[in-house]
Amino acid sequence: MQILDGKKAAQAIQSELKIEVAELNVDGKKIPHLAAILVGNNGASETYVAAKVKACAEVGFKSTLIRLDADISEMKLLDAVENLNNDPDVDGILVQLPLPKHISDENVINAIDPDKDVDGFHPVNVGKMLQGMPTFVPATPHGIMLLLEHYKIETKGKHAVVVGRSNIVGRPMSVLLSSNTNPGNCTVTICHSQTKNIKEFCLQADIIVAALGKPEFVTADMVKEGAVVIDVGITRLEDSTRKSGYKLKGDVAFETVAPKCSWITPVPGGVGPMTIAALMKNTYRSCMMKN
Ligand code: GUN
Repeated sequence: MQILDGKKAAQAIQSELKIEVAELNVDGKKIPHLAAILVGNNGASETYVAAKVKACAEVGFKSTLIRLDADISEMKLLDAVENLNNDPDVDGILVQLPLPKHISDENVINAIDPDKDVDGFHPVNVGKMLQGMPTFVPATPHGIMLLLEHYKIETKGKHAVVVGRSNIVGRPMSVLLSSNTNPGNCTVTICHSQTKNIKEFCLQADIIVAALGKPEFVTADMVKEGAVVIDVGITRLEDSTRKSGYKLKGDVAFETVAPKCSWITPVPGGVGPMTIAALMKNTYRSCMMKN
């Protein structure tokens, strides 16, 4: 069993970006600028947004964090998005999800200028991705593809089982893995909450992507010997012995599954850092396209 070390792979990607940004500086060109909107103070969202802002500083991007109260109206949030759309210095806009219940994710995502939608959630960009056109690919599945590429994992002709059908991970992941690219060219099965016998599907998988948000859902009896296992789950479970008060658990029972795998991602240190590296790549791309 070998570890797909997302921390290392993300560092390699971000080091390359840092060099590119240094060259932009030398040439007096525009530096990529990411603007993030965080509504309310959900603990996990706070952590994710802080990590994104930190990564910007590390690679030399500009970043702006806009914090809005949890009870802000949808109209006010849409105004904030519009201001960023109209700001020529801003290359990438992300609104951290989930949003409070009184705000429609769909309305907010649709309001982002597709040319600044570095999360790749706008329907225009989802459509382009579906058709294999160059576009912003959602950061988590994009990061997973970069991780497979970094470790030169053979995917052509393999059977990939994606567990979870979210717009953020499962669905785009299934599109990317089945596309005529390298990595890609997989035969893909999507499993979800209404799938009967998920275990039977998983047992046939050469590659499993677990993205359903249920701690330790994938157990050793569901995994074929030699499979590649990608764990997208990152649930916070209470743990009073830790300073933070919680520990992170993936969707895969790592201890028992790992010995059966050829490759596996750890949690933390697997998919999480790759998501951020992919977001940095999308922001760089946006800046290059405009300038
Ligand atoms: N919430 C969970 N994942 C993501 C993501 O990739 N982008 C945004 N904006 N919110 C998220």
